[in-house]
Amino acid sequence: MSEPILSLKKVNKKIGKKHIIKDLSFDVYPGEVFGFLGPNGAGKTTTIRMIVGLTNITSGEILVNGNSISKNYKKAIENIGAIVENPELYPYLSARKNLIHFARMSNNVTKEDIQHRLELVNLEHVKDEKVSRFSLGMKQRLGIAQAMLHNPKILILDEPTNGLDPAGIRQMRDYLRKVAKEEGIAILVSSHVLSEMELMCDRFAIIQKGELVQVEDVSNEDQVDLANPHMIEVNDVEKAKNLLQNEYPDLTIEIQDSIIRVKATKEQIGSIITYLTSNEIIVYQVIKEKQTLEDRFLQATNGEVS
Ligand SMILES: Nc1ncnc2c1ncn2[C@@H]1O[C@H](COP(=O)(O)OP(=O)(O)OP(=O)(O)O)[C@@H](O)[C@H]1O
Ligand SMILES: [Mg+2]
Repeated sequence: MSEPILSLKKVNKKIGKKHIIKDLSFDVYPGEVFGFLGPNGAGKTTTIRMIVGLTNITSGEILVNGNSISKNYKKAIENIGAIVENPELYPYLSARKNLIHFARMSNNVTKEDIQHRLELVNLEHVKDEKVSRFSLGMKQRLGIAQAMLHNPKILILDEPTNGLDPAGIRQMRDYLRKVAKEEGIAILVSSHVLSEMELMCDRFAIIQKGELVQVEDVSNEDQVDLANPHMIEVNDVEKAKNLLQNEYPDLTIEIQDSIIRVKATKEQIGSIITYLTSNEIIVYQVIKEKQTLEDRFLQATNGEVS
């Protein structure tokens, strides 16, 4: 992989006696959508505020494109586009005029850049309408176009799907993925709603009470040695269940209609199928239940959500 665009190294944050962020380390790479997940109060916003220099880091370091946010703020921040709370927009100006206004604050933004950003977030058709008439989703998208005006290498969005309906979330997902792939920029998006992040992110980090629980690929199908729920459809469930209980006393076996549900590793499943078929059970199909991000989160946090 290339060099990370964002690197957190053993970051800690204390406010008064409260230890809010504890030894947090992770890297975000160009072109990826990185989910920063955790329940309410886990420390997502605090971390993001440190990344964008809105609050001090107690100890540790945050590098943005190799520049320390605390020692070299100006160089580091140049690489970041962010929406931390709500996007700041002028309701009485059109989408295009809002962007022209914000473009004045950065160097070298051309009319073409503005046009390109409007197209990218799919607001080209309403660019001359007043923002006060925009839906929440449209405002979020305009906020993103605004945050990207100075061509940042990483876009940081704190809970961008908050308040959006399912269609809005889907649109957001589509254009964030498009932005990451087409522009090659990294996107860090925080959320406490895990199910919304599954299709949006390439990788994710989970934090809980200010500590990193795990970082992994979304596509990362569980490791081979992990026991996962499998559904086995057979011709005779009762007989199959008895056979399995005798042969594999440690397995948890449930019956659902004509299906046996077992939590087993890949290896175990192989031997289970052989055992059943050699005992005159017909196995119609075996399906591994897909673990959702939520399942994995609960597994990683032992079911504790906050
Ligand atoms: N200025 C502050 N002073 C004291 N405690 C704070 C301060 N800011 C945040 N905290 C505490 O730090 C913890 C993390 O808060 P933070 O807002 O970062 O969580 P979050 O993950 O963004 O939560 P949410 O999903 O609700 O947005 C919370 O316990 C919060 O009460
Ligand atoms: Mg927050």
